[in-house]
Amino acid sequence: MPTITIADTGYSYECPHDDTLTRAGLRAGLGMPYECNVGCCGTCKVELMEGQVESAWPEAPALNDRDRKRQRVLGCQSRPVSDCTIKVRLTDNAATAPRPRRFKGRLAAIGDLTHDIREFRFRGDAPAQFLPGQYLLFRLPGVPGQRAYSMSNVPDDSGEWHFQVKRVPGGRCTGTLFDVLRIGGEVDLDGPYGHAYLRTESPRDIVCIAGGSGLSPVMSIARAVMRDPALANRKLHFFYGGRGPADICGEDMLQALPGYGQRLFFYPAVSMPELDTAGAWQGRVGYVHEHARDVLGTDLPRYEFYFAGPPPMAMAVQRMLIQARVPMSQIHFDQFF
Ligand code: FES
Repeated sequence: MPTITIADTGYSYECPHDDTLTRAGLRAGLGMPYECNVGCCGTCKVELMEGQVESAWPEAPALNDRDRKRQRVLGCQSRPVSDCTIKVRLTDNAATAPRPRRFKGRLAAIGDLTHDIREFRFRGDAPAQFLPGQYLLFRLPGVPGQRAYSMSNVPDDSGEWHFQVKRVPGGRCTGTLFDVLRIGGEVDLDGPYGHAYLRTESPRDIVCIAGGSGLSPVMSIARAVMRDPALANRKLHFFYGGRGPADICGEDMLQALPGYGQRLFFYPAVSMPELDTAGAWQGRVGYVHEHARDVLGTDLPRYEFYFAGPPPMAMAVQRMLIQARVPMSQIHFDQFF
């Protein structure tokens, strides 16, 4: 098995041929930098000083010609062909998170949440250990590459991993999940990963903002907060946006949590009221980040923020928080592509 040496650190680790430089390093407990895990963000770049790797995605957009000239590779896409020496600046991310591992998951249950969001429950071979807000990488039968889906449940010994997933029109991964995989069907899972996990040490009240499949990680965070006696004095404001009323969900899950209405509050918003053909929508009309800004007003810097959703929503939330001078240390999100 190839050995990967990290130059100037004294660290080395083993990386099987079918694993990547980044993930094998994380499995070894090292703070390998990463974010998207799928070749799009560039956070995982390392300099290949010695040895040979093959890329799972040579045309990955996060790598440019300058990187290639300088022998930089994407750690999340690079599998070793030989022993390697790499140069990378390690982070302290590995200290708090459970180490990722590869395992099989069997589909145990499916339930519809909306017309295009479904909850999939998988059973793994060991207790589900992750931090609320993290994700797993899925490799689905017949689908090339991997996709990231966030857990919606909380870690426990049941071995169950729940995911709330929105169907992507024409998407091969969600097409397989929704239309092909049957109860008992097996998938390859890898994780947990992700930096947008619940900071239990923060003394601030919490704001969750989500749209689409972004429901899943912030639901996990809300469940963890409301069930943790150590966080019993935190308020949590949960904003969820959709295009029309048929896209809105989550309230029943939040209502089932202790503290709903006293310290847990739900604020749905729809951005396309014309989709409300029944004329029944009584709630907020507009973008979800605007709703959060209007409810929380000038208090924004007093909160800890977690958000997830389609890239335009995530960018709008980020812009709003930066304009409101919310410190970056209070803003938690993972970039998905
Ligand atoms: Fe590797 Fe994003 S490109 S983590």
